[in-house]
Amino acid sequence: MRGIVLAGGSGTRLHPITQATSKQLLPVYDKPMIYYPISVLMLSGIRDILIISTPTDLPSFARLLGDGSQFGVSFSYAEQAAPNGLAEAFIIGADFVGSDSVALVLGDNIFYGQGFSKILQREAAQLDGATLFGYPVKDPQRYGVGEVDAATGQLVSIEEKPAVPRSNKAITGLYFYDNQVVEIARGLAPSARGELEITDVNVAYLRQNRAKLIDLGRGFAWLDTGTHDSLLEAGQFVQVLEHRQGVRIACLEEVALAMGYITADECYGLGAKLAKSGYGDYVMAVAKAAGSTGD
Ligand code: DAU
Repeated sequence: MRGIVLAGGSGTRLHPITQATSKQLLPVYDKPMIYYPISVLMLSGIRDILIISTPTDLPSFARLLGDGSQFGVSFSYAEQAAPNGLAEAFIIGADFVGSDSVALVLGDNIFYGQGFSKILQREAAQLDGATLFGYPVKDPQRYGVGEVDAATGQLVSIEEKPAVPRSNKAITGLYFYDNQVVEIARGLAPSARGELEITDVNVAYLRQNRAKLIDLGRGFAWLDTGTHDSLLEAGQFVQVLEHRQGVRIACLEEVALAMGYITADECYGLGAKLAKSGYGDYVMAVAKAAGSTGD
């Protein structure tokens, strides 16, 4: 399976902060926002990752992340000329996807929860059609919404920002698809707001009876970063957990080590380069605990 991080858009709801930088490069406590969705793909077992952003911002992502070899993965980059909708990612990324299945994650989506990587790896292995991830929210009208039949557990409807939601299950910005997604995306017509909607892709799979919704449930955190308040709250959430538990969320060096993408010594080397920050100290400590001699 291949992975795409969509990190474009105009970020207008965060102006003036995002006037001169990309939203997905803003800090969420101790690391750039895009680290969080990248960690989700890496934890799914994905090592080929395409990062899509605006022509202006793409070079900044490349400067931050490089070719991925430091994390034992491959990052490639592609431009989205204008925010034409989430489903355009599959048209832009068609060559990158090739004949493989693909996971799309939005560059501003933050997930946290026990057992998440197990769920991701299981769903990646079992994929048949589309796998979506639902999360209960108090304001479902702001999201894609999935309705599940209580008796059978089958997904029965998907609607984009419905005025009267049929459930409280938001469809999060993480999507697993088989290779048909490229063809489906190419066949979409723009919606009333002029975008190729991811919800229309999901409805196409639902019509074929090949869409499934995994309920992440209330034990998980799916955090919003769309407004000044929610961005700050997301940072505070990460800070509280990291301080309390002494572990870091979405530390890509640690994820790469845990997934066996890099060795403990390579991990130590990455931490040493960041040694002036607490983040770097953490990476070195993680590497030592995994057997690095620290040279
Ligand atoms: O976050 C999950 C939600 O994401 C889903 O529940 C919705 O079904 C889905 O449509 C989407 O809704 P949003 O209202 O959050 O979409 P938005 O237009 O804000 O775009 C989400 C992110 O993707 C945002 O950070 C900007 C980026 N983006 C957006 C568009 C339209 C792009 O990179 N390119 C685009 O063309």
